[in-house]
Amino acid sequence: DATEEELHERIRAAKDELGDRVVVLGHFYQRDEVVAHADFVGDSFQLAKAARTRPEAEAIVFCGVHFMAETADLLSTPEQSVILPNLAAGCSMADMADLDSVTDCWEQLEEIYGTAPDADGRAPVIPVTYMNSSAALKGFVGRHGGIVCTSSNAAQVLEWAFERGQRVLFFPDQHLGRNTAKAMGIPLEQMPLWNPRKPLGGSTEDELMQATVLLWHGFCSVHKRFTVAQIEKARADFPGVHVMVHPECPMPVVDAADSSGSTDFIVKAIEAAPAGSTFAIGTEINLVQRLAAQYPQHTIFCLDPVICPCSTMYRIHPGYLAWALESLLDGEVVNQITVSEDVAEPARLALERMLSVVP
Ligand code: 13P
Ligand code: SF4
Repeated sequence: DATEEELHERIRAAKDELGDRVVVLGHFYQRDEVVAHADFVGDSFQLAKAARTRPEAEAIVFCGVHFMAETADLLSTPEQSVILPNLAAGCSMADMADLDSVTDCWEQLEEIYGTAPDADGRAPVIPVTYMNSSAALKGFVGRHGGIVCTSSNAAQVLEWAFERGQRVLFFPDQHLGRNTAKAMGIPLEQMPLWNPRKPLGGSTEDELMQATVLLWHGFCSVHKRFTVAQIEKARADFPGVHVMVHPECPMPVVDAADSSGSTDFIVKAIEAAPAGSTFAIGTEINLVQRLAAQYPQHTIFCLDPVICPCSTMYRIHPGYLAWALESLLDGEVVNQITVSEDVAEPARLALERMLSVVP
């Protein structure tokens, strides 16, 4: 087995030789040994845009999870190949919404709300999918007048949707949907949870008639672990601590925190803080540990004392990155992610709508 140092050297050498032929994108949650080789590191919104910045590169190696690589394929040029170094790097939240159950939900909603717009021309329902979803679902929303959002632009995207619709079906992440809609002043009683295993999603027809945001039942198993008790403990142990969490955390956690936002929001807030600040962070551990190492002038720690990485992000081992790059040098594209054109067209439309709301 190659040592960490050997792998580092192999990746560096392959990247040097490939030069502009390849661009490596890395999500903030990737381990340091992978981030060290990324040409762009960012949140999922920034990486989606980064996929467009080097159209001359023949390959985009995406160190992230499957839905991110699909998005890169949708936004890059047809000549470019997108490579996911380990095909087992998925996202358990994205897997919680599939096309069949969302279509089934949609059909039930059409029966309840009808399909005709109201007097202001607003559709009965606008579907909004979180970036953390399959290309098939992005295609679904594209075909039904809907849009994609990320954790950094969910509020602006929901505003866009409410200009065009009386209500929103938001999937897969119930927490991002609830936290964002609540901050926009929508009462919790108007946010029923849709459970695809129950008739009418588990709500009564009356409840659905009151609904403003229908929330899919998905969640992130990493962010679900954060609790209000952890925040209380951080405040007791570190008076003056600033608690910052990702909006995929449950609502009581977001409410108890001082601020919440995407991974890039968290990075920028720490960058801007005066020396000697103390932060308790509710997001994936690789990012928190990297920030703690980068900013020794601050005290930065993870709210959850049990080290819990995103296990699928972690599947991008440097060994796979070395293999993908060396294969390119040998003229072989391995682990290519391609979205079929029938899905790609409407999915791209949904992404372009997001990019026109928040460039
Ligand atoms: P960001 O959009 O903040 O990068 O989050 C992506 C993600 O998967 C969080 O769990
Ligand atoms: Fe998916 Fe959660 Fe991992 Fe993000 S942290 S990729 S939402 S499982």
